[in-house]
Amino acid sequence: MAVASSAHSTIFSRTSFFHHINGFKRFSFCLPFSSSAAASISSKKKWRQPVASSALELGGIKIAKDDVVKDDPTNNVPDTIFSKMGMQLHRRNNHPLGILKNGIYEYFDTNYPNLFDKFDDLCPIVSVKQNFDDVLVPADHVSRSYNDTYYVDAKTVLRCHTSAHQAELLRRGHTHFLVTGDVYRRDSIDSTHYPVFHQMEGVCVFTPDNWQASSLDPTAYAAEDLKKSLEGLARHLFGAVEMRWIDAYFPFTNPSYELEIYFKEKWMEVLGCGVMEQEILKCNGRSDSVAWAFGLGLERLAMVLFDIPDIRLFWTNDERFTSQFSEGQMGVKFKPFSKYPPCYKDISFWINESFTENNLCEVVRGIAGDLVEEVVLIDNFTNKKGLTSHCYRIAYRSMERSLTDEEINNLQWNVREQVQEKLNVVLR
Ligand code: DAH
Repeated sequence: MAVASSAHSTIFSRTSFFHHINGFKRFSFCLPFSSSAAASISSKKKWRQPVASSALELGGIKIAKDDVVKDDPTNNVPDTIFSKMGMQLHRRNNHPLGILKNGIYEYFDTNYPNLFDKFDDLCPIVSVKQNFDDVLVPADHVSRSYNDTYYVDAKTVLRCHTSAHQAELLRRGHTHFLVTGDVYRRDSIDSTHYPVFHQMEGVCVFTPDNWQASSLDPTAYAAEDLKKSLEGLARHLFGAVEMRWIDAYFPFTNPSYELEIYFKEKWMEVLGCGVMEQEILKCNGRSDSVAWAFGLGLERLAMVLFDIPDIRLFWTNDERFTSQFSEGQMGVKFKPFSKYPPCYKDISFWINESFTENNLCEVVRGIAGDLVEEVVLIDNFTNKKGLTSHCYRIAYRSMERSLTDEEINNLQWNVREQVQEKLNVVLR
């Protein structure tokens, strides 16, 4: 059974910007508002598919489709993404993501009664300042690029991590909090990557009387408490597993770590964490304090805990999936129902300088939605003239029904047409 060892690893955990193949988040060297973005925008209007334009209410704020999907050169949010906003899977107590969220709440409530404030309804539309600047993400960090993040306009994004709420909650006086929410990232397509997924952020602030009673300096005190608390959380979720701490890099913490557990015969990353950068505390009214913070991906953990083999299943309404989970039942193993056969189609084209795989995947998802299971580069060569050709294999498969040849041929025909038109590439 495929285990979700790679479902949305933390994107901020590497200093350099590189491609990870197989395993972790793939990055590309795309600059914000690159020409590929411009290419996809120019034909955006034309390719929009009709989607109900009903308004949503998110965190007490009414949001209409036009507030998120705009004909503005700095907007790259497709209709398919708007249609996922407001689903709030993490707030459904019978859904694996809700069950996992509640399981984590239970750990903190048992070990720190009445201490942690919980937020699971904060609006996912945040400012660039909240998402990046407030948590010290460098100006040239790849996560800010148009290729990786959904921009509503030049100053507003769909949050790409729940860390976007750290600063405002500190400013509002919270010292212990858990923030759960849907996060959005432009990404490739496979069984462990989906452009919308869910994270939980935890923050715990200490004041001088906390560390003065120990023999430790403030940072060492926070790091020790962090490790103790998160090891307890991992045991609460996974049982008596072997664990290890790996030194890591995040812009918002120093020192930074990843916690790994030995599970089903492999080391698996559970979360990213660290001692909060002093600058963040200072800018938000807590210069006298130290704090620890962590962030974890709910899908990544739920896929392992519940044996869920494909990230698209979280979004299905198929009763054969939904009926298998109920409130409070952590770690019930999903029994796969018969899979319908996949259908593979290849597409080859000469790429241009601005081509990115994320842009290709956005086009394919825009047409096939959740019927696309995977998009894999299967051939790549450069000819004598210096032109580079890519061939991608697209796997189409429904979780819920058999697809007809006609339906798949239509999808593929549309993909070919739109790839050519929107990405400005030459089909072979
Ligand atoms: N925001 C990080 C990501 O999405 C996860 C994370 C890592 C959150 C370390 C934290 C932290 O609060 O301390 O990749």
